[in-house]
Amino acid sequence: MKRIALPQNRIGTGHAPGKVILLGEHAVVYGWPAIALPLNRGISVEVFSRETASGSYLDPPRSNTPQRIGLEELIRTASRALRCPVARLGVRISSTLPPAMGLGSSAALSVALVRALAAYHRLPLSDTETSNHAYVLECRFHGRPSGIDNTTVAHATLLRFVRGSAPTFLHSRQPLPLLIVLGKQPRATRTMVETLRQRQAHDPRTTEAAFARIGTLVDAATHALHEGDWNSLALCMNENHSILRALGVSTPELDVLVERARRHGAWAAKLTGGGGGGAVVCLCPEERDRVQRRFTEEGWTCWPVDWPPRQGGLHERPATHGLRIA
Ligand code: PMV
Repeated sequence: MKRIALPQNRIGTGHAPGKVILLGEHAVVYGWPAIALPLNRGISVEVFSRETASGSYLDPPRSNTPQRIGLEELIRTASRALRCPVARLGVRISSTLPPAMGLGSSAALSVALVRALAAYHRLPLSDTETSNHAYVLECRFHGRPSGIDNTTVAHATLLRFVRGSAPTFLHSRQPLPLLIVLGKQPRATRTMVETLRQRQAHDPRTTEAAFARIGTLVDAATHALHEGDWNSLALCMNENHSILRALGVSTPELDVLVERARRHGAWAAKLTGGGGGGAVVCLCPEERDRVQRRFTEEGWTCWPVDWPPRQGGLHERPATHGLRIA
């Protein structure tokens, strides 16, 4: 049997943020545009040869691998994608990202793992290459996703995404003040994507019209971001939620969160990601602290997100990858 000589005493590290879809989820699967941005929470991965770290192989919490795909299999898939030796590597994962909330935990894990492996093998990778390799892992989690999650997470910037095309990086004239509120039910992306597929097969005219309208809202929102026009952006986000609700991908819990967010002072609120559970994204140009406090008092978990990220403290962007000697 051929023995693979693994680099000893090395630890490859990779980091990636989560993401939030501002507008356009689901329609993006059918070729319509969507807007997304990175979160100020993410996942870090370290890979090392098991000999190096004898006995310190750490099985990460299952919750980090949403479809319960084994880490060994993930490493094998990533190694093949990177064309580097498939070896039994140790992996350590640490995450500040809630899993199964539609906030890109599988994409962040995929991108961070690809970066850590590439760093370990000293392979230089661009963000686009990282995203393409991570997409292969994303397919293990989600079947055939549009690619918006791995693209946003790998490039870690506000962008407009159209399936099969290079992303367009967007500029926001004013800092974009968001609040993420977590529901208590996990999102059900696969089921919701399948529900919409069936719906499209039975009633293509209505479903296509809904997606086309979402596409128009994404265009208007792109312009609103460019102008820093939060009134227009709020209208787009609120209508986007109504359409997703009419399409059947919201839930009573998400609708309650959306309604409360608006009552507490958010200018807009909508579900984000696959729906069927998960989280809500709120636009809060005024009194975000108060909206956050009200949700917290009611027992919901929420946190503020800004684009561009605030300098310093919690919002600082960590290094995306690196190499350490053990
Ligand atoms: O994985 P989630 O829940 O963030 O959803 C991704 C967005 C969808 O448009 C629903 C699916 C896709 O492949 O783009």
